[in-house]
Amino acid sequence: MTEEIVKSALSKVLYPGFTKDIVTFGFVNSIVIDNNDVSFNVEITSSAPEVAQQIKDDAAAELRAVGAANVTCNVKSPQMPRESSSRGKNIAPQVKNFLMVSSGKGGVGKSTTSVNIAIALAAQGKKVGLLDADIYGPNIPRMMGVADIKPEVNGNKVLPIKAYGIEMMSMGSLMEDGQSLIWRGAMIMKAIEQFLRDILWSELDVLVIDMPPGTGDAQLTLAQSVPVTVGLTVTTPQGVSLDDSRRSLDMFRKLHIPIAGIVENMSGFIAPDTGVEYDIFGKGTSQPMADEFDTKIIAEIPIEPSIRTGGDEGKPITFVNPSSESAKRYMAAAESIWASIEDINAKGGVDNQAVQPTTPPGVSACSTPKQQPAPQKSDESCGTGCGCH
Ligand SMILES: Nc1ncnc2c1ncn2[C@@H]1O[C@H](COP(=O)(O)OP(=O)(O)OP(=O)(O)O)[C@@H](O)[C@H]1O
Ligand SMILES: [Mg+2]
Repeated sequence: MTEEIVKSALSKVLYPGFTKDIVTFGFVNSIVIDNNDVSFNVEITSSAPEVAQQIKDDAAAELRAVGAANVTCNVKSPQMPRESSSRGKNIAPQVKNFLMVSSGKGGVGKSTTSVNIAIALAAQGKKVGLLDADIYGPNIPRMMGVADIKPEVNGNKVLPIKAYGIEMMSMGSLMEDGQSLIWRGAMIMKAIEQFLRDILWSELDVLVIDMPPGTGDAQLTLAQSVPVTVGLTVTTPQGVSLDDSRRSLDMFRKLHIPIAGIVENMSGFIAPDTGVEYDIFGKGTSQPMADEFDTKIIAEIPIEPSIRTGGDEGKPITFVNPSSESAKRYMAAAESIWASIEDINAKGGVDNQAVQPTTPPGVSACSTPKQQPAPQKSDESCGTGCGCH
């Protein structure tokens, strides 16, 4: 048996559904011949198991016809796309997983975390989108270095802007510079829905969603519109921030969103000249809260001047300085988040059925006092199932 005989036999094996054979396609490699035993690899582009089986059967038949004894054909198929097993309402079905980045308090570093985690996930081979759901304070375009770019419009859909290997959309990219929005809650809800439905997102492994601070209309609308796979809470180490972060974690619970963990941001300070780490706001103080919500701190990100300048100049640290300590911590956090996503999907995914509104679309359950009086105390339910109390 020679390689020539093997190749000539395999060139009679047509690629299923085509008139060309697997040798001409260039799929055959690593041929090993041991007397009359033959082994080889076939690298195909289909992940359908019946295609692989037919190639194996046909190859074995052709090789036996020319005198081969044992035939080992290893068919290598591409990996199946990473599917989500989530159910319920999903107005952006081409997106497999959704990561909600939240905090109780403003200015703790949600947007910075969202940008760097999105870039880290993309660096780890995921197809990533980044949605800036902070309608009043959209900072993502500047942080991604695309503040001057306006998106292309295709019919009545808008194409996301591409930067650093990820797709991005923000209200800041749709408005003129410095404009302010004075909108009621119902308009915010509509805007979030349009960001999910009317932006031409590709088939994404994950959409990272940077939320406005707090627990309000935007968070509830998002949870009702798509099955949010995991939530991430960003906090700073001070007690006052932790108080608010508890509310953010409690919101995930109420919305049935699994928690991927906590990012403790501005946790210590690394002096740029000496590399020595100092405590400023405290460090590790989020641990009791993590325990309380049965989750973990997935990163302690120090105060680092280059994180701030990276944000202001649109040069995220994880992209421009991947060997820095902070970039490494963002990368580790992204790995941990992805492991949570895979784990959740393996266990059957999430379902947002329980948080669907009981009032018609566009009507806030809590803005209909004649039918459903609003509760007197903030911790009472208004009885509409809106989930906002
Ligand atoms: N670890 C850090 N080191 C240094 N600067 C940081 C760090 N994290 C965030 N910053 C800076 O702090 C400021 C606030 O961060 P960011 O905008 O990400 O917070 P936010 O929680 O999204 O705020 P908002 O609630 O207003 O949306 C930004 O100027 C950012 O560059
Ligand atoms: Mg922000």
